[in-house]
Amino acid sequence: MITIRRIVIISCVVLFQCFNQSYSLNYWRKGAIIDNNNHGMKYQRANQSKYKYEIRKITVPVDHFSFAVNESFQLRYLVNDTWQKDENPPIFFYTGNEGWIEVFAENTGFMWDIAPNFGALLVFAEHRYYGESLPYGNKSYSDAKYLGYLNSQQALADYVQLIEFLKSDPKLKSSSVIAFGGSYGGMLSAWFRIKYPHIVQGAIAASAPILQFTDITDCEAFSRIVTSDFRAANPTCPKLIRRSWGAIANITSTEKGKQWLSSSWKLCKPLNTTDDINQFKNWLINIYSNLAMVDYPYESDFLAPLPAYPITEFCKHLNKMNPTHEELLTILNKAVNVYTNYTGKTSCLATEDASPDLGATGWNYQACTEMIMPMCSDGIHDMFEPQAWNLQEYSDFCVKAYNVTPKPYLACQTYGCNDLSTATNIVFSNGLLDPWSSGGVLRNLSQSALAIVIAEGAHHLDLRSANAADPYSVTVARKFHQHAITRWIREHDENLSK
Ligand SMILES: *[C@@H]1O[C@H](CO)[C@@H](O)[C@H](O)[C@H]1NC(C)=O
Ligand SMILES: *[C@@H]1O[C@H](CO)[C@@H](O)[C@H](O)[C@H]1NC(C)=O
Ligand SMILES: *[C@@H]1O[C@H](CO)[C@@H](O)[C@H](O)[C@H]1NC(C)=O
Ligand SMILES: *[C@@H]1O[C@H](CO)[C@@H](O)[C@H](O)[C@H]1NC(C)=O
Ligand SMILES: *[C@@H]1O[C@H](CO)[C@@H](O)[C@H](O)[C@H]1NC(C)=O
Ligand SMILES: *[C@@H]1O[C@H](CO)[C@@H](O)[C@H](O)[C@H]1NC(C)=O
Ligand SMILES: *[C@@H]1O[C@H](CO)[C@@H](O)[C@H](O)[C@H]1NC(C)=O
Ligand SMILES: *[C@@H]1O[C@H](CO)[C@@H](O)[C@H](O)[C@H]1NC(C)=O
Repeated sequence: MITIRRIVIISCVVLFQCFNQSYSLNYWRKGAIIDNNNHGMKYQRANQSKYKYEIRKITVPVDHFSFAVNESFQLRYLVNDTWQKDENPPIFFYTGNEGWIEVFAENTGFMWDIAPNFGALLVFAEHRYYGESLPYGNKSYSDAKYLGYLNSQQALADYVQLIEFLKSDPKLKSSSVIAFGGSYGGMLSAWFRIKYPHIVQGAIAASAPILQFTDITDCEAFSRIVTSDFRAANPTCPKLIRRSWGAIANITSTEKGKQWLSSSWKLCKPLNTTDDINQFKNWLINIYSNLAMVDYPYESDFLAPLPAYPITEFCKHLNKMNPTHEELLTILNKAVNVYTNYTGKTSCLATEDASPDLGATGWNYQACTEMIMPMCSDGIHDMFEPQAWNLQEYSDFCVKAYNVTPKPYLACQTYGCNDLSTATNIVFSNGLLDPWSSGGVLRNLSQSALAIVIAEGAHHLDLRSANAADPYSVTVARKFHQHAITRWIREHDENLSK
């Protein structure tokens, strides 16, 4: 999930350009060499996927909740039935989030690892408006009137319809359904169980910040966790990052300095305006947050190709006492290259987007409507520049960019935040390295809506496939999940036989 800390408008001064850009962003796809209009971080993803599945489509309504619109579109989902047992096979259902569903299937090895034990049918559903599940085809992002059907309630209703369709197969008629999801997908899996307990028997909600909302979670919590991850690698590291903001301001105060920074960092587009510099800083903030999210104990390629424990690698470069501004920005560039250039194939750095593959624009729209997650920093307890949370400014951007006004309380009104004691059959898991644990459920809500903490885990590490480098805490978490799933399936099967 992308953090929207400070919205930089720049590239879409005119609304129309904004949408044009959205369109091309959303079409960045796995398997293609992405060149981002020839400026971009040259970004190449391996085409071969680790897992095999069939790609299918189901027709769903554009609008599940009104009788005014009767249009429909095709939603994609991935299926693997190889391990499906004959009698009441459980359906393991990934509630897709903001991106190509293939990416989530690939990064949710846990479901693949355990499907054989459970004789489960594996299904990964693509979230509407992402990947190829575009309600209005290539027009979907072109106009506010087409985008309005992008929200979590509609997505969950798609999933209900898909499950009802799957269960129209006589073999699956009495199957239990277990939802899985990580990040926003984890929010969806938890909300799915909360809203539709008759459809889904239980949910594994990994790194699901369902409490990262207004008046529920302190807006600085996220920034503090990112900072503490960097501090854990090396205490000098976050101190130098904190100083780097001043160094950037100082160096970029002159033309010569801007030129120096642009060329020594190999930026695709030289820094020129104040907006460029803000975008550059915003890009760095996103890289630091992303690094904290994917600080996995082994090499991985989720948001970017990265080494094991990338923050440790990053911080190895930031250990010099009292560097000059130029020295500091030079070693920071080396550090940032751990994120941007682990493959050694990045020719220049595009500061437009730090995590290009996950449908950034769709998420920006969601972050402008119902997913208002206040973020701030104070520059004292965290390594960022002080930045207050300003709903008015945020809202102004949303009106300008998408012609929508945020509804900061909608998610809590719809799904619950303050009182979730009626929730049942959910495991909320959070890694303590993961900045999103700030808005995660960290205590047990009821007899069967349970919270577990993975001390050494980053963003939904537990959903990834087992790895020899896994810390013990994540192995324990996966066992916990399997016990819960076994219990939910047993309860369901017992109720059936009554
Ligand atoms: C990627 O794989 C798909 C099918 O799996 C194939 O159609 C496509 O041509 C491949 N693309 C590249 C760039 O190899
Ligand atoms: C399901 O996955 C297994 C393991 O990757 C693979 O052998 C099998 O062919 C897949 N089945 C389908 C229907 O794709
Ligand atoms: C949608 O509405 C149009 C006209 O209002 C009608 O002709 C069409 O049959 C409807 N389609 C569906 C799928 O209901
Ligand atoms: C959208 O798709 C249609 C039909 O496939 C195509 O003719 C058109 O050029 C596309 N538009 C854009 C902006 O890509
Ligand atoms: C930049 O830093 C240098 C050295 O610390 C200092 O002399 C200079 O005044 C600073 N310039 C600005 C614009 O802050
Ligand atoms: C830098 O920005 C100014 C306006 O602020 C513009 O006139 C100039 O062409 C820009 N230079 C480059 C190299 O983009
Ligand atoms: C990426 O790494 C390669 C190999 O070390 C280097 O040649 C290239 O300049 C680097 N790219 C950037 C943007 O620093
Ligand atoms: C929640 O309850 C479970 C089982 O009763 C327990 O293992 C777990 O530690 C509890 N979680 C928290 C955060 O107290």
